[in-house]
Amino acid sequence: MNTQPLVLGIETSCDETAVGIVRGRTLLANVIASSVEEHARFGGVVPEIASRAHLEAMPAVIKQALVEANVSLRDLDAIGVTAGPGLIGALLVGTSAAHGLALALDKPIYGVNHLSSHLAVDALDETRPLKPAIGLLVSGGHSSIIQVTDMARGVKVLGATIDDAAGEAFDKIARILELDFPGGPAIDRLALSGDPGAIDFPRGLQDSDYNFSFSGLKTAVSRYLKQTPAAHRADVAASFQEAIVDVLLTKALRATAETGIDSLIIAGGVAANSRLRAEAARRCAASKVELHTPPPLLCTDNGAMVAAMTSLAVSAGAAPSTPGFPTLSTVPLDQPTWA
Ligand code: KG4
Ligand code: ZN
Repeated sequence: MNTQPLVLGIETSCDETAVGIVRGRTLLANVIASSVEEHARFGGVVPEIASRAHLEAMPAVIKQALVEANVSLRDLDAIGVTAGPGLIGALLVGTSAAHGLALALDKPIYGVNHLSSHLAVDALDETRPLKPAIGLLVSGGHSSIIQVTDMARGVKVLGATIDDAAGEAFDKIARILELDFPGGPAIDRLALSGDPGAIDFPRGLQDSDYNFSFSGLKTAVSRYLKQTPAAHRADVAASFQEAIVDVLLTKALRATAETGIDSLIIAGGVAANSRLRAEAARRCAASKVELHTPPPLLCTDNGAMVAAMTSLAVSAGAAPSTPGFPTLSTVPLDQPTWA
């Protein structure tokens, strides 16, 4: 008998309907259906549209994940589902599907934290022992520096953004530059043809603790564009991106130095950014810090991360959630699963 738990994870916190299946720390399937194109013309995710899209996509996404993993529902040891933070209506589609499966199959269900799951996806490499790390979690709603000792038992937040999240800043600047939604990938692409040193945009809170502030940067970019209408847009995108990447990595590496923890995990949607990944590799090598950046498809929202977080919780002996557990729009990072 295989002693590693076989877990199916469901993610519906925003616009991705995603299901992942893992066995222990091995990824078996990762299927994602996105409704992003239905939101593009509104310039942001419309909760009602996202919820309906989850409902339509869910059965096919679950079936495809089972086929990819070559397992049947009866084989599962546990069902994991994002229970927050996220859009409540969207979360409820995922938690309802998970409750239905758990009830029909008589399997335990775990309501898990979306943010912890972003970090937990890094555990999906069974060849590597799990060890303490500093986490840089950068997504559409969060930018935090975290001390990760044991993912399943909770983590310690060292700092977070005091205004916009990093992904939110990318999305807002993309709108000012009249780029497509979501803005992160669009800025990433445009910046490839720009000069990151062209404009010296401010690095907020550079010298203080582990907190971030990106609202001053946003104001500086929009003022620059108003004052310099003929500005080369690729240079603006590249210089803006450089300012964000610089602040994120300066603080994350300061945390590794000050805690003596020589491993850095960068996770969340913004971790898919090509400049952040390249610069992180360069700076970590120079500082002799071991860098973990999940593949881009596992950085943006996915079900594998939920299955990974659930599997770590099961292996650590965490109690399943009580059916009917709440979906929450905000959850502290130090609560990986809840009753
Ligand atoms: O983690 P995620 O998929 O969803 C949340 O939990 O928020 O993160 C979405 C965020 C969006 O703000 C998106 O613009 C940003 O991640 N993002 C990127 C890139 N890909 C996604 N930001 C910069 N560069 C990228 N390549
Ligand atoms: Zn996310």
